[in-house]
Amino acid sequence: MAEFKLNGKSVSVEVANDTPLLWVLRDSLHLTGTKFGCGIGQCGACTVHIDGVAQKSCMFPIGGVAGKSVTTIEGLSDEGDHPLQLAWIAEQVPQCGYCQSGQIMRAASLLSTTPKPSDADIDEVMSENLCRCGTYQRIRRAIHRAAGEVVS
Ligand code: FES
Ligand code: FES
Repeated sequence: MAEFKLNGKSVSVEVANDTPLLWVLRDSLHLTGTKFGCGIGQCGACTVHIDGVAQKSCMFPIGGVAGKSVTTIEGLSDEGDHPLQLAWIAEQVPQCGYCQSGQIMRAASLLSTTPKPSDADIDEVMSENLCRCGTYQRIRRAIHRAAGEVVS
């Protein structure tokens, strides 16, 4: 059994300690905003925050989150109005959309430590998250917009 905080609420799940957090989120807790892409830590579609830091949940065993605080895209804001979510809409970032919850969670982690990131900061951090549709330029613009650097 693992007990942890999920989007601000205490939860406990009866699963083996080596079960990946991604499986628990999607299959046990039915939070499907976090996506399964590769399952081997390569794509970033499964990115969530653990104690405020972006992590690939497919690579994180549930035993490792005991006592920690997990935030998924569903918990990033109450009304879908996090500055990044608003910027994503304004910049019309998504194409197929599959990678985007992971992209936003990675970007949110970046802005929490680097409120005014440079292009180089963004490229370095966001390189952990792949987009098969190639939305990288719009992602970069949206991050700048959320950081208050783009007014249009
Ligand atoms: S599904 Fe976790 S990195 Fe691809
Ligand atoms: S929007 Fe399609 S994979 Fe990123």
